[in-house]
Amino acid sequence: MNAPEKFLAKPATGSSHFHESARAQVAGGATYIDDVAEVKGTLHAAPILSNVAHGKLRGVDASQASTMPGVRGIVLAKDIPGDPILATFVHDETVFAVDTVEHIGQVIGLVVADTVMQARRAARKVQLDIAPLSAMLDLREAVKARSFVLPPVTVRRGEPERSIAEAPHKLSGAFDVGGQEHFYLEGQVAYALPLEQDNWWIYSSTQHPAEVQHWVAHALGLDNHAVTVECRRMGGGFGGKETQAGHMAVWAALAARKFRRPVKLRMDRDDDFMVTGKRHPFAYDYEVGFDDSGRILGMKLLLAANCGFSADLSGPVVDRAVFHVDNAYFLGDVEIVSYRCKTNVQSHTAFRGFGGPQGMIVTEAILGDIARALGKDALDVRKANFYGIADRNVTHYQMPVEDNILDPLVSKLEQTSQYRARRAAIAKWNAQSPVIKRGLALTPVKFGISFTATFFNQAGALVHVYTDGSVHVNHGGTEMGQGLHTKVCQIVADELGVPFDKVRISATDTSKIPNASATAASSGTDLNGRAAQFAAREVRQRLAAYVADKQKCRPEQVIFAHGQVSGPDAAMSFEQVVDDAFHSRVQLWSDGFYKTPKIHYDKHTLTGRPFYYFSYGAACTEVAIDTLTGENRVLKVDILHDVGRSINPAIDIGQIEGGFVQGMGWLTTEQLVWNEKGHLATHAPSTYKIPATGDVPEHFKVAFWHEANPEDNVGGSKAVGEPPLMLAISVFEALRDAAAAARGDGPVRMDAPATAENVLRALRK
Ligand code: MTE
Ligand code: HPA
Ligand code: MOS
Repeated sequence: MNAPEKFLAKPATGSSHFHESARAQVAGGATYIDDVAEVKGTLHAAPILSNVAHGKLRGVDASQASTMPGVRGIVLAKDIPGDPILATFVHDETVFAVDTVEHIGQVIGLVVADTVMQARRAARKVQLDIAPLSAMLDLREAVKARSFVLPPVTVRRGEPERSIAEAPHKLSGAFDVGGQEHFYLEGQVAYALPLEQDNWWIYSSTQHPAEVQHWVAHALGLDNHAVTVECRRMGGGFGGKETQAGHMAVWAALAARKFRRPVKLRMDRDDDFMVTGKRHPFAYDYEVGFDDSGRILGMKLLLAANCGFSADLSGPVVDRAVFHVDNAYFLGDVEIVSYRCKTNVQSHTAFRGFGGPQGMIVTEAILGDIARALGKDALDVRKANFYGIADRNVTHYQMPVEDNILDPLVSKLEQTSQYRARRAAIAKWNAQSPVIKRGLALTPVKFGISFTATFFNQAGALVHVYTDGSVHVNHGGTEMGQGLHTKVCQIVADELGVPFDKVRISATDTSKIPNASATAASSGTDLNGRAAQFAAREVRQRLAAYVADKQKCRPEQVIFAHGQVSGPDAAMSFEQVVDDAFHSRVQLWSDGFYKTPKIHYDKHTLTGRPFYYFSYGAACTEVAIDTLTGENRVLKVDILHDVGRSINPAIDIGQIEGGFVQGMGWLTTEQLVWNEKGHLATHAPSTYKIPATGDVPEHFKVAFWHEANPEDNVGGSKAVGEPPLMLAISVFEALRDAAAAARGDGPVRMDAPATAENVLRALRK
């Protein structure tokens, strides 16, 4: 007898189960790298930083530092047994600066001491002899000088020059957007332990343990199998630990090798700012032609990214920017020229959205200005440019948009947010308010899901069922607060029909799942969730075959639900079935492997189907600016976002809210200032302002779009990690709307972030 419907427990997926370590985190019981009990004899390292943006490194004098209390010595490039070049994708970065330094904050070596404070104090006393060379510090100068880390990439469709020339209206302009510091609460950290026979154990706060393993092995001159990397969780990564956690691990391992002791390297917050890369700042020059409805007919865009001193992930980041220039819109005839510029600052890296935000924002800004040029409502102009269903439905990179829900989604938010009524009310309000002006904007997001590098779109998992019926899962993804482990537990629990609490996930470990991709591109659950589901399914099918054999039925008749395994004759607890099966020598564990179907693209022309599907969303944001001081506030936010069928609504809402607020920070208060010497002047929370609780709008409503993912994705869900960040472009467009209300009609140039200064500049005629 099958278990009657009413006895089935609610499946784990679709319910707002607590984050698997929420309680431990708030109680201080969740372990981060710096909480790992230190092995006796552990030493601590601190970095020696370049104080010149570009120069010849002539000497390092550690004589004073060496005599300081607790100091064991220093580590320099000459102490590297393997390759002095880091094993990054482009191999264009040294492990420690040798001969030349390329930015202020570049790591030249380490001081190793008994305590972390001793190491840090001594590192500051190391004397550097650097002969300065001319430094490239300005992005637009780098474009002029053709100072690149990678060659330019152009994507072109049709005849944009002709379309622009023949268009009834034209607009051209320039626009700059700033970078963003990740400000993960747990800074970069690694703890390297020598094991027997030149094997190594590395605790690393990393989104990509396999990459850290590879980098460490490469620097130590060992094979990958000699190095094991473990990450239980990160206190946030946001892209900043996709590659750049590798540096800490390599440095710590080199120190550990030299001193034959475990070594921990935990960056001080200021050093973390100075050493690691950020979101890429971008500069744009554009020209568009459009018709009376505001529809773009032709567009020419120059998009330049400040990559810093090395390539790091800049290739794929700028590719993703190029892929997302369209956002939700059919661009007509278009040419996008992208530059990956080399400057003498930190090497900029992945950051939530991975170039997508920088691609989208320029087109959103252009559409806002087209509306102002035509005296139209910006939402009408946006809608006039949406991708179509039957026509106008192919992207500039030749991918048909098959899952387009832009029109119904945006129309629904337009109603629920009362956009039109508020637009009228705000116009009335502004007419009687000379100093404070309000602004409103409703902007969409269409974000491509998959790593653009197709081969990254694979994942593995292990599911072990123990004889007591408890389940242990391990997969290649990492937990950074986004709830990946919770979702994977839910998926496995449902596959085996057991309660959530029966399933536990252990730390990500390169000796369990090899060659795992970074947990990035928002695809953690899509990839690892599916791999774990397949592994659990394998075990379930073996158990079903075992039960079917006993009950003389077909395996499909055996149902796993509510902690019970039921065949036509009898139901037993999952534990009992597992125990019986074990004694009949049924294999109770399995691996699982998943690779995303359908995707492919040509990395030279950037054409093809780089994305399995798109995640959609829209936000309606109301702001106020003070036209005398430039200060601004976000007053009201309404979001309608597409997560497909949500695996965990509470976690997804958290991702949407968090992503939005992080995007709001990028576009309003988070300003990175490098001074004329190339010194990052904003290297601490005293001068670099991330949003605080008081900045979250009082009215902040999030709703889900109601449809499942039309592509076959785990549980019918869609990826959620990055797309909501780009909903914050509505904040920026609302601020420009408010500036336009103060200025009168016409385009508004406002560079991002919209600090008080930039708002005031935008108000100048
Ligand atoms: N959420 C939290 N709390 N902390 C993070 O570091 N990183 C974001 C996003 N959400 C992040 C986060 C980024 S950049 C990505 S790519 C995804 O989570 C990665 O996880 P996922 O693929 O499991 O969604
Ligand atoms: N997104 C995030 N990280 C990545 C990607 C991507 O598309 N490609 C390589 N690393
Ligand atoms: Mo997220 S920027 O893809 O780590």
